[in-house]
Amino acid sequence: MRSMMAVAMMLWLGVNTVCAQALTAITPGEVWPDDKGEHINAHGGNVMYHEGTYYWYGENRPARGFTTEVGVGVYSSKDLMNWKNEGVALAVSETKGDVIERGCIMERPKVVYNPTTKKFVMLFHLELKGRGYEAARVGFAVSDTPTGPFKFIRSLRPNAGKWPMDFTKRDIKRAMALDEAKYKEWWTPEWRRAVDEGLLLKRDLPGGQMSRDMTVFVDDDGTAYHIHSAEENLTLNIAELTPDYLDYTGRYIRLAPGGHNEAPTIFKRNGVYWMITSGCTGWDPNEARMFKSKSMWGPWEQLPSPFRGEGANKSFYTQGTYIFKIEGTDQYIFMADRWIPRSLKNSRHIWLPIEYDTDGTPLLFWKDSWTVDN
Ligand code: DGJ
Repeated sequence: MRSMMAVAMMLWLGVNTVCAQALTAITPGEVWPDDKGEHINAHGGNVMYHEGTYYWYGENRPARGFTTEVGVGVYSSKDLMNWKNEGVALAVSETKGDVIERGCIMERPKVVYNPTTKKFVMLFHLELKGRGYEAARVGFAVSDTPTGPFKFIRSLRPNAGKWPMDFTKRDIKRAMALDEAKYKEWWTPEWRRAVDEGLLLKRDLPGGQMSRDMTVFVDDDGTAYHIHSAEENLTLNIAELTPDYLDYTGRYIRLAPGGHNEAPTIFKRNGVYWMITSGCTGWDPNEARMFKSKSMWGPWEQLPSPFRGEGANKSFYTQGTYIFKIEGTDQYIFMADRWIPRSLKNSRHIWLPIEYDTDGTPLLFWKDSWTVDN
């Protein structure tokens, strides 16, 4: 009996040693085990560095279904390869009727640190329970610590009553004169012009602009921007946040009206802002787009996709979610999801180092395996 117990103990130890073995590489598209051997359940999220540790936030997704049953998960790491499950950063509410009630949809959470308020601020795409994707809101939550628990503050549609800062009086007058009833058919030249001129922008003005896929970008001067798909996902908005990152200053611009961009990701290098987005094809991959500008307020220039090689026309079967810098280096990592809609929990994480053309334009090449030089 004693020897049987000893064998069982050795087997148990063996299994746990395998699970706990340190990872020495990032293997895009493979199962990415956390400290407990479970595939990391943090999708559509971001990585934030704070005081020597990286934190990875993302959608905790169920094995089946499309709604949020748990909330936003958080993991921590020192080397970007080995991640400890830190639990739930923002939990769904168990109270019926709450805006973040279990069964709502929380997508694309992004956490940033505000050094002035000393708070960790989370923005995320929120859809109300049982209402599909019609609410199109952004949610705000805060915490005193990176792993939470985050406290939900409120949700809204950004910039109610505000015209984009680059809209002149003439632009406003022209937008006000547009009649939605005349543009029932999408993608006609007339409809495209009307969208560009503010057909849906005007429609959403009273209640605020729609906010679905999104990211948050903090500039070198500490100013934060919420970049979100608005106008039925047809137009991206770049909206400045207040110094506490919990509201809008009312300053925003539209990027690529009618361009149908989702999944915005952005970084700044050598004074240039680079934005990589996707098209809109639900959970299916499509060809990425890229934009560049010397200022957040534009003008933004559209460039070809940064993906190169086999599968580039489908962005290696991924959709971007965030770009972050390895602390103390000039190395940026492009984080993306390879969605598995029949089991979102098992969607794969595709992390690739950003490379550059001779003129500094970002490029993405597939890698089966690569190591982070910390
Ligand atoms: C694409 C978005 O990028 C995802 O975050 C998610 O909203 C799916 N669409 C839903 O179809």
